Amino acid sequence: MSNNTNSGFLFATCQNVLCEVGSSLRIGEIVTEQGYKSVLFVTDPGIASLNLHQSTIEGLQKAGVEVTVYDEVQADPPESIIFAALECAKKANAEVVIGFGGGSSMDVAKLIAFLAHPECSQTLADIYGVNNAKGQRLPLIQVPTTAGTGSEVTQVAIVTTGETTKMGSVSPIYLPDYAILDAGLTVGLPPHVTAATGVDAMVHAIESYTSAIKKNPMSDLLAKEALKLMGANIQTAVHNGKDLGARQQMLFGAMLAGQAFANSPVAAVHALAYPLGGHFHIPHGLSNSLVLPHVLRFNISEAADMYAELAPYTFPDVAFEGSSEEIAEQFIVEMEKLIKDLGLPMTLKEMDIEESFLPTLAKDSMLQERLLMNNPRPVSYDDALAIYTAAYQ
Ligand SMILES: NC(=O)c1ccc[n+]([C@@H]2O[C@H](COP(=O)([O-])OP(=O)(O)OC[C@H]3O[C@@H](n4cnc5c(N)ncnc54)[C@H](O)[C@@H]3O)[C@@H](O)[C@H]2O)c1
Ligand SMILES: [Fe+2]
Repeated sequence: MSNNTNSGFLFATCQNVLCEVGSSLRIGEIVTEQGYKSVLFVTDPGIASLNLHQSTIEGLQKAGVEVTVYDEVQADPPESIIFAALECAKKANAEVVIGFGGGSSMDVAKLIAFLAHPECSQTLADIYGVNNAKGQRLPLIQVPTTAGTGSEVTQVAIVTTGETTKMGSVSPIYLPDYAILDAGLTVGLPPHVTAATGVDAMVHAIESYTSAIKKNPMSDLLAKEALKLMGANIQTAVHNGKDLGARQQMLFGAMLAGQAFANSPVAAVHALAYPLGGHFHIPHGLSNSLVLPHVLRFNISEAADMYAELAPYTFPDVAFEGSSEEIAEQFIVEMEKLIKDLGLPMTLKEMDIEESFLPTLAKDSMLQERLLMNNPRPVSYDDALAIYTAAYQ
């Protein structure tokens, strides 16, 4: 498929999106309407300790649904977590799986909905890679509690398989029956998490819009609308976290960005961010934010027109002027200002990374071929090293 918008494209997304403050209280109704009585509820210990899931679970129980909670999901979940959650689902005879949390909980929920189906004869090892998970899954409901990964509408589940290695299972079967977007669940997110996850979602929209291989007009529409919503609301969501309106718009924008990149994938920003997460456990959104301006500058020679198109959507109050290259540069400067205003660290040096480690990062980023192939400009090892060097201080 080419990036010519006159050529054909395939766009896949989930069946139902429920976007409303308080919508998570209606999940019991949704489950019982379909005639189901038992669910596996997948979440993480941080959410459990905050009791963020309590009202959702009470809503399910009030509707007469039996709820089994698996709340041991670790960030960047290893295989052992998938096996434990699967056992839990089987013991409970779960008919429906609910993912409740960030990307980690939702990714685990995807895999369990597939692997716990009574007809499933495949194992986790069988389903890594593209379109290897085939057949049926249990009904799946995804409830993001951060406005970030967009995992509620993507076809990917990511598992940590080694010290610094991850594997993905990609299949349309992971698109849920329902994505439930309820800002009531995100008001307690600390500012630095809101900022980092929000920038991650903005990167999804930017990289989707410039994707070299599967760029398509539907993803383009969604990416522009996502940047409009998130550009207008990210500052409020970070600095005034209780603002439900801004939080709801961020959740909606992050989901639109998720739909965009699920069909027109992310590229070098993510490829260069991954080694930072792998070696230094820097959260995914912050890793992206640290390399973002430098990858965009590197891409200008191929992507100036596209960045210039995105600029007025993201920053409607800025008077962008000049050639595409000049507007693209202004767009990058505005993104840098935004990252600074959100209070995120700006340099690798601030993250206590040794300069001598940059060649290792550059070498590791080259392994992300699956992502680099989507970048508008080819990235060599020397290019990656130059980008990390620019991001250093
Ligand atoms: N499937 C995809 O499309 C996709 C895309 C990007 C990343 N990922 C994967 O997702 C994972 C990262 O996801 P993530 O960045 O969302 O983080 P996460 O799910 O790993 O962790 C989120 C953290 O934030 C806390 N948290 C979540 N909601 C909260 C709330 N409302 N209030 C307070 N605390 C809250 C949780 O307790 C947890 O500690 C990685 O495994 C990554 O590989 C998947
Ligand atoms: Fe991301």
